[in-house]
Formats: sequence, C-alpha cells, structure tokens
Amino acid sequence: MMIDYSNKVCLAPMVRSGELPMRLFALKNNCDLVWTPEYIDKKIITTKRIENKELGTIDYITRSSNNTTDVVVFRKHPLETGKLIFQMGSSDPSIAVDAALHVIQDVDGIDLNCGCPKHFSIHSKMGAELLKDPELLCSILINLVEKVGKPNNKPISAKIRLLPNFEKTKGLIEKILSTGISNLTIHCRTPIMRNRQDPIWNYLPKLIPMIQDLGVNLILNGNFQSRDDLKSVQEALKNFKLSIMIAEAVEANPSILSSTPKVQKFNVAEIAELGMKYLHFSGAKFMILNMIPGKSKWYQELSRLKNWDDMMKKIDEMINDNDTNDKINFIMNKNNQKVNLLNVEEFKKLMRQRGELMKLFNDKWDEEKMLDDLNDALPENNKEQQKQKQKGKKNKKNKKANQNGNQKEEEKIKTEDQSANSHQAEAISKQVKAEKSSKEAVTDTEHTVVDNENDSTTKKHNPLDTITNENEPNRKKVKVN
Ligand SMILES: Cc1cc2nc3c(=O)[nH]c(=O)nc-3n(C[C@H](O)[C@H](O)[C@H](O)COP(=O)(O)O)c2cc1C
Repeated sequence: MMIDYSNKVCLAPMVRSGELPMRLFALKNNCDLVWTPEYIDKKIITTKRIENKELGTIDYITRSSNNTTDVVVFRKHPLETGKLIFQMGSSDPSIAVDAALHVIQDVDGIDLNCGCPKHFSIHSKMGAELLKDPELLCSILINLVEKVGKPNNKPISAKIRLLPNFEKTKGLIEKILSTGISNLTIHCRTPIMRNRQDPIWNYLPKLIPMIQDLGVNLILNGNFQSRDDLKSVQEALKNFKLSIMIAEAVEANPSILSSTPKVQKFNVAEIAELGMKYLHFSGAKFMILNMIPGKSKWYQELSRLKNWDDMMKKIDEMINDNDTNDKINFIMNKNNQKVNLLNVEEFKKLMRQRGELMKLFNDKWDEEKMLDDLNDALPENNKEQQKQKQKGKKNKKNKKANQNGNQKEEEKIKTEDQSANSHQAEAISKQVKAEKSSKEAVTDTEHTVVDNENDSTTKKHNPLDTITNENEPNRKKVKVN
C-alpha cells in the first residue's frame, strides 16, 4: 500500500545517527515513518543485496577498501516495512534512477536530499546545491517519479530548505510540485542557517495551502522536540494534515517520539541492545554517547570503552546505580542544540508551554511583514566569539595530545579538526549559547522563559522563545550533516 505521509511524526534522515538501531528504536516508540540516512547514489549502486538469515535483515554490502571483508552499507529490518523512506543524494537523474531501482523492493519511498549544505554534498552539486539549479533538481525528481515511483507504485519525495526570499521560495516549490512527488519536507531554515538557530515559519501560511491544494503532503522540520509538538504545530497553523520530522531531539532521546518519554539511562540501555545486534561497535557507541548528558559521570565511563563486553557490563552497572542525582536519570531535551535535563513532569510542562507559544504564531501572523526577505545570518556579535572559542579549544586539544604523546589522540584531533572547519559555527555556538544561558537561566525547579541569544532574527520571526532549565557544557561531536 502507498504510504500516507499526513498527520505523522517522522524520524529525520541522519547520517551516522539514523542507522538501523535508531530506526528500530524510533519505531518501537511509535514513530510513524522513518527516513534512512542519506546514501549517495553512486555508492549504493555498487552494493550487493543479500538476505542475512541470522539477523533476518536485508543487507546491501560492499567490499572493504582493502578487499578483505564485507561491509554493510544499508541494512533493512522487516519491522520497517511499510514505514521506511530511503533518502538519496544525487546530482544526476540517470544515476539517481539506477540507485533507486537498486533498493526499491525493500523500501516504501524514495526521498531526494535537496537541503544538505555541507561541503561533501554541495561540491558535487548535491544537497542544498540543487536548490540553485531547479532544472536539475526537477529533472531528477521527474525521472524518479516516472521510472521508479510509478512502475513500482511507491512515492517519491524531496527534502528542501527555505530560500531567504518569499517569491523565490514559492517559485522553486511550484516547480518541485509539478514533478509529481507525493511529499515535500521543508526544513524551515535557509541553507546558511545552523541548527542552533530558530527555524522560520513566516512563509508557511502562504506555502501550506499552495502545496496541499496540489495534493502533495507537507512535513515540517526544524527544532521539533516531541510527539506533542505534532498537535501543537497543527493547531498553531490550523492544519491537521501537517506532519513533523525530528532530528536532533531524537538523536538525544528517541523516546520523545512516544507520548511517554523515558529518562536517558533506559534509552542508553535500549540503543546498546539494538546496536550490539545490528551495527558495528563504533557506530553504536556514537549513538550511545549522544544519549548521555555530558555532565553525567557515565559519559566518561562509557566513552573509554572499546568492546561490547565492557560496554554491556558498564551499562548494567549504570542501570543498577543508586545515585538518582546523576544526570542519566533525567530526560535530555534538545532545543536548537541547547540541552535541558528534565524529569517527566517538567518535560510534559515544557511541551505544553511550547504548544501555547506556538499558538501565538497564527494570531500574530501579518502578511504585510511576514513575506519580507528572511534575515537568516548568524547573529553578528557571535561570530568573533566563535573564532576565539575555536582557537582556545584547538590549543587545549593540541596540548593534551602532546602531553600524552599518544598517537591515537593526535589522529582523533586531526579528524576532529578537519570536521571542525565545516562544523565550526555549530560547535562553538553551542558553547557560547550554553555559557550565556547558564548566566540567564533560573535554575530552581520552576522553568523560565529566556531570550534565545541576542538574535533579533529569532525574535522577529518566531513565536517560540527558548524555555530552558539547565544547560550542558558543550561536548565535542562530529556532525556529518
Ligand atoms: C547527525 C545528523 C545527520 C544528518 N544527516 C542528514 C541526512 O543524511 N540527510 C538530510 O536530509 N538531513 C540530514 N540532517 C539534517 C536533519 O535531517 C534535519 O533536517 C536537521 O537536523 C533539522 O532538524 P532538527 O532541528 O530537528 O534537528 C542531519 C542532521 C544531523 C543532526
């Protein structure tokens, strides 16, 4: 049966974080649809499809670079059937078709990534670069619709970002809608915006009817934080077909996809079980560490471990630990990359407050002002701070590496530094934000509404002020997209 994209909570495509254990965990928590991480078309066509009888999965495998082992590129579990969207990166209509045909029997829809602003995507004209070349973008979609979607009775969709000008955004979307796709996901940030900036809803009241009147479903993405946000956003925008897609909040705590979110230690235990079964150690460890608050003693404890035996023993110890004050016993909530640690009641309250704030959007929407160009630049006063912080961090790391004389550490730094160039803004901004908020946030049990940076853009464009309770120190994380 064709997938119905409407009124759904969706797991966003996430390179590294959206592998099978995360998708299964998301589904277990009532997530309605799950996206795979982006797979590059050229890579996927080189894989071989096998049935993995031991795990009951379908694996798309390739040989390792030294040609000694098989490596799983994409793994699908039967529990995903009917709910799995395969996301692809492409800049070539015919390779896109070949790649989609290669996997179509095992997935329920094909999605084209037209929003990734990272260098590895845009230098080969993929991702957000496609937004600059609507002809190419649409030609890929038309080919997918005609040669993959229709013959296999499976939907084709696209995930885009906003452009900073209303007429340009509208024109682009009109073209995309004419390709015959079934769903459009809008990440409500422009290509230059970072995930720590508030998404911008200004154009939505005009775009939503335009999209839905043509029978195309719309999924909104950008800083959603729980299943409760689905109803809140539907009420705020007075549209009950809308769906939402969540990335970073799920990466931190997949149980927010259900109506009964759990504290971190249970998420960690669960993702470890799934990871041990379906993924390699380093990939699973990455997911596990993403779910541990940096302030918890367990972050250090688990980050040291190098094999599953030690990992599972330590997680057992963590589950049975009586120290209820450790941050692992809280729900980790991500709000524009800022981390809050809450108990269940506090989390529910926060989501209700978000709902109330979202509702203000429609009342305040004013066509005269809201269709102006978007001010999507990073707040000016943060740029210099970011540079300084990054310099400081680099020095600290280099010093540590020298002290240890540890080659591994140096290699790690090198990789981190390479990625730090492209992720500089994100990484440092987290820190800037955390520091600023730790001064501002009221840390008693009552939550308080604080400004989301000195960001006039945010204030002007979005009804959602930041609600916070406690802030985490920044922890290094390699973001892939
Ligand atoms: C670790 C990570 C990996 C991502 N990988 C992809 C990807 O493969 N394809 C894609 O379209 N977007 C990717 N994104 C972007 C997310 O899908 C999403 O659009 C973005 O994070 C905004 O949603 P959020 O505010 O809920 O985090 C990634 C984001 C993260 C954090």
